[in-house]
Amino acid sequence: MASPARVYTHGVLGNARADFAEDVRAGLTKHPQKELPSKYLYDEIGSALFEVITLLPEYGLSRAGARLLKRHSEEIIDRLPSPVAVAELGSGSGTKTRWILEALSRRQPVTYYPIDISRTALSRCWQELGRIDSVSIVGFERAYLDGLLDVASRRKPGECLLVLFLGSTIGNFDRPAATQFLSEVRGILHPGDALLLATDLEKSVSELLLAYDDPAGVTAAFNLNLLARINHELDGNFDLSSFTHEARYNSEQRRIEMHLRSTRAQTAHVVGASLEVHLDADETIWTESSHKYRCDEAAEMGLRAGFQCEAQWVDAEWPYAQSLLLAE
Ligand code: AVI
Repeated sequence: MASPARVYTHGVLGNARADFAEDVRAGLTKHPQKELPSKYLYDEIGSALFEVITLLPEYGLSRAGARLLKRHSEEIIDRLPSPVAVAELGSGSGTKTRWILEALSRRQPVTYYPIDISRTALSRCWQELGRIDSVSIVGFERAYLDGLLDVASRRKPGECLLVLFLGSTIGNFDRPAATQFLSEVRGILHPGDALLLATDLEKSVSELLLAYDDPAGVTAAFNLNLLARINHELDGNFDLSSFTHEARYNSEQRRIEMHLRSTRAQTAHVVGASLEVHLDADETIWTESSHKYRCDEAAEMGLRAGFQCEAQWVDAEWPYAQSLLLAE
């Protein structure tokens, strides 16, 4: 598989299996609501299933984000000083970043720093974007903030940093944690640097439920795969056929929640986490939250974190916003 010309990895991901075991243990012994951190949805199979989700007719987020970048990339970069280096938090496959990099590379040579804990994602990103003229790619196999610190330490004097946080991944943080995360990003940036932040906006509950519980069952497979991952990575024995996928809308928190519902009373063992877990019939494991925002919320969150909202673009077809936040 092709890899970015340079990928920095050394000693920062720690002991991934031990962390996974500890998080599974902590989450599944929580009372009254068992939970598992959503970041573990993205093993190789989960990432592939997520790529399929982005193609589903019911899941409008990715197409809305891509439409906005396709239409407004020139305008976005026109609002930034020159030269600009680009860092992306959670590069994914890199498809939507193409528009920004192409627009920038017409103006100057660009260094693009994708930051992702998945080496596979970085390789896909390299395959997708590695051939754009005047763009060089330096990947960081790191957690977001660690990677951004590394990028910041490599910046050239006078270079503005544009950080991309696309796909409405911010929605997978609880609201206070989202603002805290943006503050930490701000702490790494210099005044005048920029953050392009994507947020999925509120829409009808029926549309949201379909987007997170599609009739083809792809999201169900994505969710159930988390138990399959525990089974094969941590020597667990969850019986996947006795769980169902559930998407619910929490109107107080304005978020979709994904759960795995146990269809019968059962006990599972996870040897690698030294864990015996009992589930009652109908008990659920909460696996992900996806917060939905009002249009002005991104600017407000940004302000609390030390950014000014320079401009915002909203998709007309699927309510979704890209906000350009400038570090004050
Ligand atoms: C990655 N993240 C923004 C997706 C979302 O919409 O919250 C993950 C996802 N979960 C189910 N479908 C998609």
